[in-house]
Amino acid sequence: MNKELIEEIVDSIDIVDYISEAVNLRRRGANFVGLCPFHQEKTPSFTVSPEKKIFKCFGCGKAGNVITFAVEYYGFTYPEAIRELAKRAGIKIEAYSPAKKEEISRRDKILQALEFAKKYFQRILLTQSGTVALAYLKNRGYTSNTIQEFEIGYSPSGWDTLFREMTSKGFSPEILLDAGLVKKKEGTENEFYDVFRERIMFPIYNATGKVVGFGGRILKEVDNQPKYINSPQTEVFDKSKLLFGLFKGRNEIRSKESVVLVEGYADVIALHQAGIKNAIASCGTSLTMEQLNQIARYCKTIYIAYDGDEAGQKATERAIQLALPLGFEVLVVKLIENEDPDSIVKKFGAQAFHNLIDNAKSFLEYLFELAQSKGILSRPAKKSQFIQYCLELISKIPDKLQHYEYIQTLANLLLMPYSQLEALFHEKQKIEKEISKNVQREEKTFLQTTQHATKILPEEEYLLLICLEQPEAIAVLENVYKFDKSNMITQEGAELFSIVYSHQGKNPLNSILSNIAIDEATKNYFINLVFSKEEVSKHWERFGFAEIEKDFNRILRDAFTRLKIKKIEFKTREIQNLIANDPMNQEKYLKELQELFRTKQKLLNSLKK
Ligand code: UTP
Ligand code: MN
Repeated sequence: MNKELIEEIVDSIDIVDYISEAVNLRRRGANFVGLCPFHQEKTPSFTVSPEKKIFKCFGCGKAGNVITFAVEYYGFTYPEAIRELAKRAGIKIEAYSPAKKEEISRRDKILQALEFAKKYFQRILLTQSGTVALAYLKNRGYTSNTIQEFEIGYSPSGWDTLFREMTSKGFSPEILLDAGLVKKKEGTENEFYDVFRERIMFPIYNATGKVVGFGGRILKEVDNQPKYINSPQTEVFDKSKLLFGLFKGRNEIRSKESVVLVEGYADVIALHQAGIKNAIASCGTSLTMEQLNQIARYCKTIYIAYDGDEAGQKATERAIQLALPLGFEVLVVKLIENEDPDSIVKKFGAQAFHNLIDNAKSFLEYLFELAQSKGILSRPAKKSQFIQYCLELISKIPDKLQHYEYIQTLANLLLMPYSQLEALFHEKQKIEKEISKNVQREEKTFLQTTQHATKILPEEEYLLLICLEQPEAIAVLENVYKFDKSNMITQEGAELFSIVYSHQGKNPLNSILSNIAIDEATKNYFINLVFSKEEVSKHWERFGFAEIEKDFNRILRDAFTRLKIKKIEFKTREIQNLIANDPMNQEKYLKELQELFRTKQKLLNSLKK
């Protein structure tokens, strides 16, 4: 993929439009700001520059262009991101030649295999061999529309029906293996069997809507067979990061600003069918941090609607513990005994489930009622533990204003004086603070070492900035002022100038960002530099940077002059050091010093003109 093409793609996409699909942006000056999708924050520090076509979060430091965003946010690989964005921009990337075909990444082939399998399973469901399965689904109340929408299928009988079908269509056994669709027969070299046989197939999609795996339900539950089989861990299928229903429900989740977290595939599908399209489930695992981070991209409120049994209670508690520190509002839906969301909407209708959601309790009320029902609150030692536990949870909520609300709620529930709980809470926090201080110190040193280590001078940065902001600057510097990288003072300055110099054109920054040969730290350095103009850096204020558009040539000349002055100052200091070390011979240096001083005066005077 050539650099010009990448540049063209980046250039033709409106970055604000693109990022707006994922982040709520609003205008601030020349830029747009929003809550960063890459870390938790309450005040927006995620900034997008429509003009420069870049973004940067001043909180976590993540920065880049549309491609970076596609990779980091949606989880595309770099080539995937380019292809997606090209499609969006309506730019044709050459059709693949047979040789090029070989180049398509293995990952793509795996995805193609999974897509093929999905369609194949869908077809089987509608054939003779799928009649029983289709009847089962209909009997469970799934409409044809739902079956279509969730692309539900049926895996055929026989040991290797899928394997034979797909290899005959050109898929290699290795790819099928890597896609998690087949397994190698033990003790053999090239005998394979299908992972899914005679199961209802639920495709599982990643954040970009690609099928990455399946959940397969047995038709009739039998003793020695698991009810569900899920795809094994593969390059594209990582259960701990995926959520069933998230891709399909993403727009609904955004507009409702909440998700309903349920236990099973069947629950998600039934709720969707009943119009509750913000329902999602983890795929047969307990909820993970990564899954919560996925959810956080879309909303900040979670309704937990797990079963009321022992296992469901445990899972609910775990979800509460994980979600609160991420800033989620957590509510718990009390289901009807011995029913799951799927059976509730089926037996009692969608409205019944809506009512349950409307009556959801805050996590604190839920825990309180659970403790009460277990008799914990009538035993002083247990009760004390329970209170400590609740305070601990509250203290993990990032928004401190909520602490007092929840302490008040807890006081009301326990019929305890607010002041007593508050005192306990503060005691706890003091200890926490001590611990976190140490942790933060470590994080800070880590950040410092990962940032672009540079000793570049403000005068040099200023010049680089002009070159990035004003495409013609490089040519003027070169032709009018005979400027080249040797005019820079520091090694870093010279290197960075060379990079800008070799990317001159309509938009040097875009060109640099599109160059895969340039490392991330350097790209980030340039992004930061461009954004630093907005901050009106202390260093540059005195240079009158805001004036840049007014008198471009003048600004450029002055920038170069300042650089020359800086050089003279360095030289002067060097000589002064020599004199200090060798006082007997100062005569010999004085002339040179005077000369430097005179030149500096002249340069300073020219600045004032
Ligand atoms: P459930 O047993 O509650 O199944 O498991 P369900 O989703 O309600 O399905 P139906 O209504 O019986 O058809 C909840 C989830 O746990 C995972 C699946 O993701 C399932 O949706 N699970 C369950 C497995 O991964 N393997 C199993 O053997 C059982
Ligand atoms: Mn069920």
